Amino acid sequence: MTTRSPDPSRAASPSGIRREPFGSTAGGEAVERFTLTSASGVTISVLSFGGVIQSILVPDRTGALADVTLGYDTLPGYEKDKSYLGALVGRYANRIRAGRFSLDGRDYTLAQNAGGNHLHGGMRGFNKAVWSVEPLEDRGDVGLVLRHVSPDGDEGYPGTLRVQVTYRLTPIGELAIDFSATTDAATPVNLTQHAYFNLAGSGSGDILGHVLELNASRFTPVDATLIPTGELRSVRGTPFDFSTPETVGARIGADDEQLRLAGGYDHNFVLDRASASELALAARLSDPVSGRGIDIHTTEPGIQFYTGNFLDGTVMGKGGVPHRYRSGLALETQHFPNSPNEPAFPSTILRPGADHRSRTVYHFVVRD
Ligand code: GLA
Repeated sequence: MTTRSPDPSRAASPSGIRREPFGSTAGGEAVERFTLTSASGVTISVLSFGGVIQSILVPDRTGALADVTLGYDTLPGYEKDKSYLGALVGRYANRIRAGRFSLDGRDYTLAQNAGGNHLHGGMRGFNKAVWSVEPLEDRGDVGLVLRHVSPDGDEGYPGTLRVQVTYRLTPIGELAIDFSATTDAATPVNLTQHAYFNLAGSGSGDILGHVLELNASRFTPVDATLIPTGELRSVRGTPFDFSTPETVGARIGADDEQLRLAGGYDHNFVLDRASASELALAARLSDPVSGRGIDIHTTEPGIQFYTGNFLDGTVMGKGGVPHRYRSGLALETQHFPNSPNEPAFPSTILRPGADHRSRTVYHFVVRD
């Protein structure tokens, strides 16, 4: 099998950025949509609402385009969404036990919005904010710089957090996402992108036939509320071993306590990496039928692999097709869940004067 960037000769249009209105929120804030076109034929649209990646058009082996990410056609879909489809997630992506943590001798209580735990920043996380957006064109790359200020006390978090996220699409079909943040008081920070992928095309079926490889020899097992127990467990001999390519569905129904607790895969994998801060391979995903693939590299220590177990077909997505059970999967690069309560996990505490920085690159490819 060979992996290549999509064929530039099949590009629908030259690289560029289109900007258009996308309605206004229930609160009256104007929202815009930005469409990034690259010479590779990969086209990505992004909303100022939630920094959402609304669509990702990727050519298959024959050049046929499909939209490989789940989402909605209109803004009210995103305003009502509870699945974080395509959104930027913060101030803390993933769960914090009971929404509680102590920092520098003080106890903090965050919004408890998921079975008594704090999830993805709370009731109104960064996924519900309207971000300011500035287009960026640089040596053949097209991109966007998104900015958001989270005030002191937002969802219970200490300090004013200034967040910047850059999306940059390269001529060979890579989407580089750079996260940065500064604060005026110590606070936990964990930022991620919550796109759901279906490489056969959004709305086309489930993701059980996708082939996944994860560069992880350990994962963080969870309790019944999906909070890590603190253990870093070897994947060897378990359905969590994706160190060689395996279909997502091959073992998802196995008699395994961790799969039972989460209703499928919904776990953080500990990435194998030579250095703590270099960009390293995290995941390779492919749809063997169309040949579409994604290679994910990141500077983060973990990746949450979530198989859309909470999607239940009750919410209509793009083109009036419901988001059915396991019709998309998320691969969320991140620090480990509940890190503020686990001193042995890599720290997520950002202090005044320091810069939070992380980078994740999705390379949309074709595998022959
Ligand atoms: C993450 C979590 C899941 C679920 C989804 C959103 O991926 O790990 O448990 O909450 O977000 O529905």
